[in-house]
Amino acid sequence: MQSLIGSLSFKTMGNDFDISSLENKVKRLKDEFDSELSSAKEEQDISRIKSKYIGKKGLLQDLFKLIPQIPESERKLAGKILNDFKQYVEEKLEDLKSALERKQVEFSEDITLPGRRSFSANLHPITVALREITEIFEKMGFEVESGPEMEEDWYNFTALNIPPDHPARDMQDTFYLEDGRLLRTHTSPVQIRAMEKRKGVLPIKIIAPGRVFRRDWDATHSPVFHQVEGLFVDKKVKMSDLFGVLEFFFKKFFGEGTRVRFRPSYFPFTEPSAEVDISCVCGGKSKDCKVCKGSGFLEVAGCGMVHPEVFRSVGYEGVQGFAFGMGVERLAMIKFGISDIRLLFGENYIAFKKTFF
Ligand code: PHE
Repeated sequence: MQSLIGSLSFKTMGNDFDISSLENKVKRLKDEFDSELSSAKEEQDISRIKSKYIGKKGLLQDLFKLIPQIPESERKLAGKILNDFKQYVEEKLEDLKSALERKQVEFSEDITLPGRRSFSANLHPITVALREITEIFEKMGFEVESGPEMEEDWYNFTALNIPPDHPARDMQDTFYLEDGRLLRTHTSPVQIRAMEKRKGVLPIKIIAPGRVFRRDWDATHSPVFHQVEGLFVDKKVKMSDLFGVLEFFFKKFFGEGTRVRFRPSYFPFTEPSAEVDISCVCGGKSKDCKVCKGSGFLEVAGCGMVHPEVFRSVGYEGVQGFAFGMGVERLAMIKFGISDIRLLFGENYIAFKKTFF
C-alpha cells in the first residue's frame, strides 16, 4: 500500500498529475478493500478494515492529503472520486455489520425450546358421537335410514298427528321454503317414510341419524343440530322393549355405571310418551353442578309407543311399535364435557378444537 501512495505523490510532485492515475489508484485500493472484506468474519475485522481504509490515519486520508498538489481545475473531480470511494467503503462495512448481527441472532435462538404442537386433522365431535351411536344400534339389529332435510309439511307434522292448528307446531318453528316445504324440525318424518317404503313388511327396526333445523340460538340450542330417530314396529311390541333398548344404549354410550330414568311426558306421535334422563357425571352429589344444575339427571331423549293415528296415516293396522329421538349435540356435549353448543359450530371451532382434542 505504501508504494501505491508513494507513486501517486511522486507523480504529482513532478506536476504531471492526471486524474486517470488517481482513478487507477482508487480502483486498486477498492479491489484490495473488496478482497479483504470478503474474508472478514467478525466485528473486529470490520473495525480493523475501517481504520485501515477510512480511519484518521488510513489510506484514503493519505490520498486526501495530496489534493492541494492537484491542479485546481482537477481538484473538484479528485475530491469526488475520493469521497465516492469513502462512501462505498462505509456502505459495504455497514452491510457486512448488519449481516453479521443477523447471523448472531440466528445462532442465539434457543434450540432446546419444545417444538410447536402440530395440529393434526381429526373428526368433529358430532361425527365421533354419530358413528358411535350408529355402531351400538347396529349391534342391536337396527338398520340405518335417511330422509330429506327439506321436508313436506305432511311428513314433518301432519302424518305425525300434528295437524296445522296443533300447538306443538309453535315449539318447533322452522325455516319455510317458497314452495311450501320446510326444513325438518326433527328426524321423526323418517318414521313415516320408512313405514311407507316397507309397505307393511315386518319387523321394521331402523335408526335415522341426521340434521334438523329450528329457530333457536343460545348456549344449548343451535338452529342446525343433529338427532337420531329410532323406530321399531312389529306385531307385538311392549314399552319394556323400548326401555330395555334405550337403557342398553345409554349404558354402552356413557358407561355401564350410567343410570337411566323414564319420566312421563307428551308427544303428539307417541302414546304413552316419556322423557329419558341419564344420571349426571357428578353422580347427583353436587348441588351446584353446572351440567345437571344439581338435579343429578340430564334429559337426553324423548320416546314412547307409536300413536295409533300415526299408524293410520300410513295405513298400518294390527301392529305395535315404539319410537325415540335423541339430540346428538347434547349427547356429545355431555360425553366430551363441552359447555356451550356454539363452540361446536362457527368461527370459534378451530380454537375450541385445539383446546379439547
Ligand atoms: N321428535 C321428538 C323431538 O324432536 C323426539 C321424539 C322422537 C319423541 C320419537 C318421541 C318419539 O322432540
